[in-house]
Amino acid sequence: MNKAAALTPDTLPAPVMAGRDFLSNLDMSPAELRAVLDTAHSMKRGEWRGVKPLAGLSIALVFEKASLRTRTTFDVGMYQLGGHAITLSNTEIGLGTRERVSDVARNLERWVDAVMGRVYLQQTLNELAQHATIPVINGLSDMLHPAQLLADYQTIEDEFGTDLRGRRVVYIGDGNNLANSHIHMAILTGAQVTIVTPVGYEPNAGVLMDAVKHGTDITLTHDLSAIAGADVLYTDVWISMGQEAEADIRRRAFRGYQVTPEMLDTLAPHGIFLHCLPAHYGEETVPEATEHPKSRVFDQAENRLHAQKALMYHVMGAMTPRW
Ligand code: CP
Repeated sequence: MNKAAALTPDTLPAPVMAGRDFLSNLDMSPAELRAVLDTAHSMKRGEWRGVKPLAGLSIALVFEKASLRTRTTFDVGMYQLGGHAITLSNTEIGLGTRERVSDVARNLERWVDAVMGRVYLQQTLNELAQHATIPVINGLSDMLHPAQLLADYQTIEDEFGTDLRGRRVVYIGDGNNLANSHIHMAILTGAQVTIVTPVGYEPNAGVLMDAVKHGTDITLTHDLSAIAGADVLYTDVWISMGQEAEADIRRRAFRGYQVTPEMLDTLAPHGIFLHCLPAHYGEETVPEATEHPKSRVFDQAENRLHAQKALMYHVMGAMTPRW
């Protein structure tokens, strides 16, 4: 086994997103994404053990919605980097109800060094970022889930290496925030992304236009045969948080789009299955798929920690504690 080369405060990479917002994967250039993922891989190899580059810095984790992975990994990640995280639920702060979003931003910036927000509307994050002088990180909105995609592509690179040009990544299911962020990652990495949805559940038109503007071809189809031979098959829940009233309609619309072990057998021999979790077993997938030899879903969940630590380092690593 290779011994990890330990980094010291003098040998850390230069932060590439110093003080910047991360509201979308497109807030990074391909080179910046490369730097963040290289750092995530290095952290996973244990090369940052004992290094505390965010000592004296704090981040507020704002949650309008439930979370296991995002909350735990941002909190533990901040601790491991020497900083402090404070979690604020929406019952406490009432974004836009108890208090204007702009006022929340203008308070938080006086106390903490960055904000991570998990919100219903992307507009809420945009407003936080517009009014706060500190960086705002997207921890999921109705439109995008860019922090998740960092971990997803770390997992894909764990399997296939860092040159993903031409790799076939197939997303099946709802054309939701995950599907949208996959399109952005195709722009950044050159992966060949196919989105397979039922009619009426395609990705956001504005995000598809982002691909057109960047000259990136995205295949949109309703045809399940597009899965055959894929390097990566990815799915997400059919009923996202806040869509519970549409549950029955959605279950009917998505029938046939469930990821099963039989579907995984049609991937490339080296193909892998990813799911951002939580899984709604019996809907978009079944336990036999997440336990399948092609499944990497729990490695993917682990990578949330490494990828988000890397992100926080590159956003906050050049800051000086203010106190
Ligand atoms: N995938 C994901 O964002 O998980 P949580 O909702 O548990 O944070």
